[in-house]
Amino acid sequence: MCGSGTTIDVCKEEKWKVLGFDIVPYRNDIERADARNLPLDDEIADFIFIDAPYSDNIEYNKHPDNIGNISCEKEEFFIELEKVAREAHRILKPNKNIAWLIGDHWRKKSGFIPVGFKIYTILEKYFKPIDIITVSRHNQTSNTPLWHKRAKQYNFYLRGFKYLIIMQKVSR
Ligand SMILES: C[S@@+](CC[C@H](N)C(=O)[O-])C[C@H]1O[C@@H](n2cnc3c(N)ncnc32)[C@H](O)[C@@H]1O
Repeated sequence: MCGSGTTIDVCKEEKWKVLGFDIVPYRNDIERADARNLPLDDEIADFIFIDAPYSDNIEYNKHPDNIGNISCEKEEFFIELEKVAREAHRILKPNKNIAWLIGDHWRKKSGFIPVGFKIYTILEKYFKPIDIITVSRHNQTSNTPLWHKRAKQYNFYLRGFKYLIIMQKVSR
């Protein structure tokens, strides 16, 4: 779920060996693969970072296996992301960490959906919690007069942060 590949760039800067995958790769150093079925052996990764879609709010691409085309208002969204969590657990070495970036969701029709807490609950089935970090959005697009007006009109809070959930694979 590499997207534009920011994570790969950071790893390269840090001189870490990195493999990046996406259902629709945006550049040559990202390999095409479904995050639910990665072309990797069991327990080979020292660290996993996942920036999964938060719902269908951004159209990344029209690929039929893009989980970002499923709304988080549907249970199916979380069922598919649980498969991603299971696959991450398979490839991660014991005692190593996974970090999962995720944001919450608000829509007029569905109201507030705590996507971050729901993902936390899924991850807890497979991993041991280490920490939760809130990542604030300094360049956030919702900090505009239009969004302030909408928030007052429809009575919701502007979301200025994401969760970075850190978990560990416990050894068997
Ligand atoms: C939140 S974006 C990643 C944003 C990224 N961190 C960036 O800097 O642009 C989510 C990505 O998940 C990818 N994706 C959705 N379903 C997928 C799947 N089943 N397997 C692999 N990647 C998938 C989408 O193509 C999209 O690029």
